[in-house]
Amino acid sequence: MAKTIDKPELTEVSEAQIAVHWKEEEYYQPSEQFKAQANLRDARILEKFGLDNFPDCFKAYADMLTWFEPYRAVLDTSDAPFWKWFAGGKINASYNCVDRHLAKYGNKAAFIFVPEPEAEQDVTITYQELYDRVNEVAALLRGLGLKAGDRVTLHMPMVPELPITMLACARLGIIHSQVFGGFSGQACGSRIQDSGSRVLITMDSYWRNGTLIDHKANADIAVRAAKDLGQDVDKVLVWQRYPGKYSAKTPMVPGRDFFVNDLLKEYKSRKVEPVALPSEGPLFLMYSSGTTGKPKGAQHGIAGYLAYVTATSKWILDIHPEDIYWCMADIGWITGHSYIVYGPLANAATSVLYEGVPTYPDAGRPWRIAERLGVNIFHTAPTAIRMLRKLGPQEPRKYKYHFKSMTTVGEPIEPEAWRWYYDEVGKREAIITDTWWLTETGGFLGTTVPAINPMKPGSCGPGAPGIHPIIYDETGAEVPKGSGKAGNICIRNPWPGIMQTIWGDRDRYVKTYFSKYNKNPKSKDWRDWPFMCGDGAVQAADGYYRILGRIDDVINVAGHRLGTKEIESACLTVPEVAEAAVVPVQDELKGRVPEVYIAVKPGVQPSQDVIDRVIKANEEVIGKIARPKHVYIVPDMPKTRSGKIMRRVLAAISNRRDVGDVTTLANPDVVDQIRTMVQGKETVTTQAELPEDIAKFGQVE
Ligand code: WTA
Repeated sequence: MAKTIDKPELTEVSEAQIAVHWKEEEYYQPSEQFKAQANLRDARILEKFGLDNFPDCFKAYADMLTWFEPYRAVLDTSDAPFWKWFAGGKINASYNCVDRHLAKYGNKAAFIFVPEPEAEQDVTITYQELYDRVNEVAALLRGLGLKAGDRVTLHMPMVPELPITMLACARLGIIHSQVFGGFSGQACGSRIQDSGSRVLITMDSYWRNGTLIDHKANADIAVRAAKDLGQDVDKVLVWQRYPGKYSAKTPMVPGRDFFVNDLLKEYKSRKVEPVALPSEGPLFLMYSSGTTGKPKGAQHGIAGYLAYVTATSKWILDIHPEDIYWCMADIGWITGHSYIVYGPLANAATSVLYEGVPTYPDAGRPWRIAERLGVNIFHTAPTAIRMLRKLGPQEPRKYKYHFKSMTTVGEPIEPEAWRWYYDEVGKREAIITDTWWLTETGGFLGTTVPAINPMKPGSCGPGAPGIHPIIYDETGAEVPKGSGKAGNICIRNPWPGIMQTIWGDRDRYVKTYFSKYNKNPKSKDWRDWPFMCGDGAVQAADGYYRILGRIDDVINVAGHRLGTKEIESACLTVPEVAEAAVVPVQDELKGRVPEVYIAVKPGVQPSQDVIDRVIKANEEVIGKIARPKHVYIVPDMPKTRSGKIMRRVLAAISNRRDVGDVTTLANPDVVDQIRTMVQGKETVTTQAELPEDIAKFGQVE
């Protein structure tokens, strides 16, 4: 039996080596003006960060931080591949982001908060005010008995109270786990359980697309969901979007729920010494989707992570303390942690926080904000770029802002969208860095150094300083640059920003990121542990990488990773559903969106009602971002003879591609029925090659 399934899988595997045809794009050069002011201008840096100088080259990153006690070893590999960066040192992230700037920048804005309603005033928080507020919240958390090593789950929107709470946790060594505010209460609950948090910190409400959302309702669902999974939450701390006023309808639960603003009265003007924490102490958890349905908490450590995001904010984002920097991501994702909060603040920047939707109330909003605040560094994702371009291609021209630097992150950006970003948003003045990286990697992996490397639309560029990527094929052989072949992109060496482990699951960490290409699991030599990123990539002859997308069962929806297993199990919560299969579909704005195929149980009539409940289940279990584009009720799933659902066939149908040879399937006839259902009688398929991530979809068990 094994033989019959092996065969088609072998042909699938060889797809990793298929030629990837794409037009070579032209280079764009940074302006002399940009180069003259850049933090990193000396091209010798790339040599200094060569593998010959590894790991000592990263001392320069540690030097950007203020230490309570110096570290002993730059990199301790004794527990490989659980790397300990700057081992033996004592440090505090809150001190580095706040206290150390007070003397010079106390009166300078740390954050400028822009509420979504345009009539509401901006709120400027200086470094001095940030210091005061972080201290009060730290005093409160300490007063509740929380201490270093405890976990606290945050489920907060884009408001200043979020970074204030994070920095208060960091001051004490409490491990914060912020769950993206748009995730459902249930998704938050499973993350509370996994992290073992007894305290949930949330906010009553926030504005999104013109509506004041009752967010407190999610806290009740989260606490219940965590309890069902065996984790009790003792306290829910509720920030108020409008201090002193409760803006949600959901009642507070006596004895469990407390308004932060009430509790803070007792801690007014209180100061808390930042705790001198070990370099290797955990700073936070960030949950991300993987190939199984179980949430995967990437654990980031204090010193290595902070050093990495500080240095890359300075050298790649080119942040100077005088800059007004705006990253439009949400702090609930890794981009926000690294490049709205920790990196920019460690550099004493002014970081803009925008509460709402970029296109609210119209596609001119971001450019109005940029003009009013004098933003000169702008950072966003391809999905927002596509959306703003579609809704208001000429809007940027109407506003008198000037960016010197722009970043894109989260998904591959097509050269056409890149050029609009460059020509219209950047007004041909701003450089663009296309930064490729992951939740697990803490900071940038692939990017140009903007004053040194020219830009090339659609390519992230070479490895960041000190990051040495390599592309392997399925057999572990190196795919040479310029070969036009794709493979699995890995990083040869550890770097300070790499996660420490998956929270509570050391084996999963080793298995997911290292086992495929590690030949000696006992080795303490970092050279034996290339880190597998989970993306397909090609390297052009000039050394630049082009990222093709996830090669595991993860769908990147508008730059957000969603695990197909999570979506499929959400579908299965609808009692009528017997089987569910989710596939990625190309989408003009969001890059990829999930499309769902379900088979109902015997005796159940397919109905719109079932479809509606499947959609609702996805919104409830995961969040609105998981809303499928379509739900199809099929007579049966296409299956191999061993009973494995062929998601690849479904992905081909959904993406209007030829399904290829399906004669080896157990039920080839069903393929045609499904195709007609999805594409109609006049089947419209194209012979064009599927993008790598979709072509390889559904292979990972
Ligand atoms: C994708 C976000 C192409 C990639 C920081 C990766 C990108 C996943 C880029 C991680 C980019 C991120 N070009 N693809 N510049 N940046 N990706 O964990 O597939 O939310 O594996 O981290 O996003 O998503 P995550």
